[in-house]
Amino acid sequence: MNQTLAIIKPDAMKKGNMENIKKDIIDNGFNILKEKTLLLTDEQACSFYDIHKEKPFFDELVEFMTSHECHVMILEKENAVEEWRNLMGATDSQKAEIGTIRNKYGTDVSMNATHGSDSNENAIKEINFFFND
Ligand code: RTP
Ligand code: MG
Repeated sequence: MNQTLAIIKPDAMKKGNMENIKKDIIDNGFNILKEKTLLLTDEQACSFYDIHKEKPFFDELVEFMTSHECHVMILEKENAVEEWRNLMGATDSQKAEIGTIRNKYGTDVSMNATHGSDSNENAIKEINFFFND
C-alpha cells in the first residue's frame, strides 16, 4: 500500500462539498488514515507551495489557500499518488475529465477543489508537513 497527501481546498470547503468529496474518495477504494480541518497560516501556505514561489500565480495561490479552512488527509491505496491524481482530474477544472472531483467541484485553474502530491517522495514530505507526530 502507498500513501499520498490530499487537501480539500477552501473553495470546496466553502461550498459545503467536504463530505461529497470524502464519499468519492472512499467509494474509489482509498482509506483515510488521518485527517484534520485547519486554517492555514500565510507561513504554512508559502512553505507548502514553496516550489511555486517564482510562478506568477504564487501570491494568488497563497491568498486562496488561506482564505478559509482546508481539510487535510492522508490517503492510502495501492499506487495512491497516481490514483488520487487520476480521481482529481486535470489541474484546470474547466479541462478536468467528466466525473472527476475537479470537474464536479472545482471552478477553474486556481480554484480547483483539491490538492494531491505529485510523487511518492513529495507525498512523504507533505504528510510529514501536516502530520509530524
Ligand atoms: P496541486 O499541487 O494543488 O495538487 O495542483 P497540481 O499539481 O495539479 O498543479 P500545480 O501546478 O502544482 O499548481 C498548484 C496549484 O496552484 C494553483 N494554480 N493556479 N492561476 C494559475 O495559472 C494557476 N496554476 C496553478 C492551483 O490551485 C493549483 O492546484
Ligand atoms: Mg502540484
